[in-house]
Amino acid sequence: MRETILTPQDFIYPIFVVPGKRIKNPISSMPDCFQESIDEVVKTSKEVFSLGIPSIILFGIPSYKDEKASSAYDEKGVVQTAIKAIKDAVPDLIVITDVCLCEYTSHGHCGIIKNGKIDNDATLEILALEALSHAKAGADIVAPSDMMDGRVGKIRKILDEEGFTDIVILSYSAKYASAFYGPFREAAQSAPAFGDRRSYQMDSANRKEALREVALDIEEGADIVMVKPALAYLDIISDVKNTFNIPVAAYNVSGEYSMVKAAAQLGWLNEEAVMMEILTAIKRAGADIILTYFAKKAAKLLQN
Ligand code: PBG
Repeated sequence: MRETILTPQDFIYPIFVVPGKRIKNPISSMPDCFQESIDEVVKTSKEVFSLGIPSIILFGIPSYKDEKASSAYDEKGVVQTAIKAIKDAVPDLIVITDVCLCEYTSHGHCGIIKNGKIDNDATLEILALEALSHAKAGADIVAPSDMMDGRVGKIRKILDEEGFTDIVILSYSAKYASAFYGPFREAAQSAPAFGDRRSYQMDSANRKEALREVALDIEEGADIVMVKPALAYLDIISDVKNTFNIPVAAYNVSGEYSMVKAAAQLGWLNEEAVMMEILTAIKRAGADIILTYFAKKAAKLLQN
């Protein structure tokens, strides 16, 4: 009579890819997570696939950063090169790419800055080029996480014009300005050098606004919509699931992962039990897919 059953197929595993060879740098605030060079990413991708997890999402840490995020759409960039290597080695693994500028800008913001402010429309141009470069390299799904207005429509348009009509857009639609992203910014080396992300990410106090954001993204052509973070936003996941007839993804973010890891290391929580309870709750709330750093661990448990 159990209503919610987790399977490895529910998960997407996030991977941080860095230039170089034989690199596997531990991320101190995220135990068991690493920045990996492409050869290592290929090994991890094989492992992920063999565990029954259908998909990964790639985050790139580029070899250079500038004001214009030009490494974001470099054909020979770290993500573009990684996609090809993964597709060669594990062709049936679904490769998703995070489309954002914060990892590629020298100032760490998700957009282009003019006169000290984010220039929304100038940013759209770069995001579209970035998404296109990922599609050209062989990505199956692009996932814009920048929260600029109009980016889903812009990305859909350039992909269609260039013949990539089958590429899916997974939009980070309801993405909150959250302190739970702290450990990720260490992992992706993407903390903003000044200010914060409140001018483009959502206020955690807002519930109805999430539905407006999701409605806009669907209108612009999103195929899957995402709520992020997950654990403190189960009401939003449930609202989105019950309001729209579209697949819903939820991002069990870095801080949610690190909290459990830290408490477990101190012996204060049972890591496996808490992990499964959290993932089940996210699915119960309405998520069809869960992006989680726990994916491999949870899949191993589920396989047994
Ligand atoms: C890029 C991006 C972030 C995360 C995913 N994509 C960071 C941010 O918006 O600051 C966070 C993921 C996590 O915390 O696990 N914009």
